[in-house]
Amino acid sequence: MTVEEEIRRRILASRAITFAEFMGLALFWPGGGYYTGPDHIGSSGDFYTSPHAHPAFGALIAVQLHQMWQVMGHPATFTVVELGAGNGLLCRDITSYAAGLPGDFARSLRYVCVDTLVAGGVERESTRDPRGPTVNRLASLLSMGPLGGEHHRGIPLRGIKGCLLSNELLDAFPVHQVTLSQGSFKEVYVTLTGDVLEYALKEPSTPRLATRLAGLGITLAEGQTVEINLGIDDWVDDAAEALDIGFILTVDYGRVASDLYSMDDRPRGTLTTFYRHTQTDSPLQRIGRQDMTAQIDFTTVMNAGIQAGLETLGFTTQARFLANLGLPRLRDRLTALDLPRRQLAANNTGMLDLARPGGLGDFKVLIQGKNVGTPALWGFEEPVSEQAVALASNVPILDAGHLPLMEGRYPHASLEFDWDPFYDIDASGRDGS
Ligand SMILES: C[S@@+](CC[C@H](N)C(=O)[O-])C[C@H]1O[C@@H](n2cnc3c(N)ncnc32)[C@H](O)[C@@H]1O
Repeated sequence: MTVEEEIRRRILASRAITFAEFMGLALFWPGGGYYTGPDHIGSSGDFYTSPHAHPAFGALIAVQLHQMWQVMGHPATFTVVELGAGNGLLCRDITSYAAGLPGDFARSLRYVCVDTLVAGGVERESTRDPRGPTVNRLASLLSMGPLGGEHHRGIPLRGIKGCLLSNELLDAFPVHQVTLSQGSFKEVYVTLTGDVLEYALKEPSTPRLATRLAGLGITLAEGQTVEINLGIDDWVDDAAEALDIGFILTVDYGRVASDLYSMDDRPRGTLTTFYRHTQTDSPLQRIGRQDMTAQIDFTTVMNAGIQAGLETLGFTTQARFLANLGLPRLRDRLTALDLPRRQLAANNTGMLDLARPGGLGDFKVLIQGKNVGTPALWGFEEPVSEQAVALASNVPILDAGHLPLMEGRYPHASLEFDWDPFYDIDASGRDGS
């Protein structure tokens, strides 16, 4: 049975399923959901993420992790659990860069990749130096969610002292869609008319939807449709419980609630689909063969964290975060390397893509802390910390695991494009304006 057949079977059994159930099945149904299939990220997949653009992403996160390790008093074991680690590329880049950082950091680093599938990825290529980090892979725990029909994939570890890390995890969680139609609050369902899958508006499946919006102070306008990611609360609770001492570093695309739920800017919400690097915006097609995603409401991630006893230690854009950790310095050093022109240009393009306005640069970085006080973290520190810049001194270079951004398939990243005017960050990482 295909995932589409399973969806149709469920609709026939109950007339309609919520959009969240539809999305959860399309992405994660064990018998053929999108994320159970072959690698979907990278040049042969449907989209790419920051680790694929350039290894500087992992390198600079390693610099931030090094400071966290210092803040925690250089523990002999510092565990990084990467949730939604995908093909393990970020793990590989972080652990490789960590191997060159000072002190016993690399020896202390125990890195665990967690994803829905236990099958390993390129993290296996991580340094095998016995003095380097140890790397393991675990599958997330599958259990029934609080709404009965929804699956919740839990963190398979407890007592963590270190950092829970994720890049583009929360945007893959199934979302409910709600709207205000003729003055009444409705939820979007998926149903069948004859043979055709269609949307239908019905009473909300749970009071949590209205409660979430009311708690955020959001009132929908007539005709406005928004997504609500109920999985965030469970995930933050789970993460806070899994962590004994340390940090939760979340990178994703999204906004604070007042911006995300703006009728003027996003009247139809942010749900979208990707197929072969093209934004297709057609969730009911290519079921199980295309990615489906919605922007994250970071206000809810922060609120849920406060409820669970976490401190919000910083929130900024990816462009600013990477600049504060030394991205401009890495670019400077890159140009001083004796690389062939094409390789130099490819690396420069990849680094710039990480901070591109309107693209990865607009992603957000949130760090929450538990039992670590309120340290000033380098990623949020301005002017840029000299200690951070000192650690960002070895330039990591693109290899076969990353994306050939220069090779025609990604025209926005062409060699001829002059990026610099779009950046307000000079080489010292400070505002050029
Ligand atoms: C958009 S991909 C991002 C992959 C990777 N972090 C990157 O940046 O390239 C989302 C990943 O999260 C995984 N995932 C989704 N929900 C999860 C959960 N609850 N626990 C662990 N992994 C999950 C998916 O299987 C998928 O590999």
